[in-house]
Amino acid sequence: MEQNKDINQFDIPLAKRTYLKNPYSILLKKLLIFSPFLLLIFSTAALRLIRNLEAGPLRNFVFQVEKNYDHRVLGHLPYKEIPREKLVFIEPNIEVHIDMRDSLLKMREEAKKDGIYLVFLSGFRSINLQKDIFYSLKSIRNQEAAERARVSAPPGYSEHSTGFAIDIGDATQRETDFETEFEKTRAFRWLIKNAAKYHFKLSFEKDNKYIDYEPWHWRYEGSIEALKIFETANRKLQI
Ligand code: DAL
Ligand code: ZN
Repeated sequence: MEQNKDINQFDIPLAKRTYLKNPYSILLKKLLIFSPFLLLIFSTAALRLIRNLEAGPLRNFVFQVEKNYDHRVLGHLPYKEIPREKLVFIEPNIEVHIDMRDSLLKMREEAKKDGIYLVFLSGFRSINLQKDIFYSLKSIRNQEAAERARVSAPPGYSEHSTGFAIDIGDATQRETDFETEFEKTRAFRWLIKNAAKYHFKLSFEKDNKYIDYEPWHWRYEGSIEALKIFETANRKLQI
């Protein structure tokens, strides 16, 4: 008994747990409690934003930016004027890019062997000449810009300024020059069948939304320079 009494006299400290009041852990706890509500609020806001993008003016804005991304004007892509030193005459009044001359003349020769007589109507056109064609004729014909642009490119937007475009007619049916009727000529039928051999491609086909069908207008795609110039036109064929 005496011995037990002695033991009780000792003050043996008990292990104590103290909880520090850490502000971060309190915040974390609160976040965990409120997280389902926060998730609900954010999801609702995100859903509303998506709906607004789909139906609201912001969507129209995004759409407009995408539509103008390739810098078209009235449906025509921009083209720089080729430097003079890259041009050569193939007729007294017709200049073309030197890189396409041989292929173009060979195409005319081969057509002749098949009894088809191609005639070249227009090749390189400077931006200044294109300005006259667009604005003077627009004024004479009392046309609005969008109406004029269906048949003629605004200055700075014509394939003809690259030197890689050529307008072709049928020497035996000159009344079809620059007319949709050209598509009924033997020359056009021959071109449709053979032009790709010489790297020529019809630029303005029937499905173009902004520019009228031009069966006489062909562009050369037989060099990297030409392919680079027409890259956007080839990528966005459906626009
Ligand atoms: N006629 C074509 C579109 C041009 O003017 O280039
Ligand atoms: Zn043309």
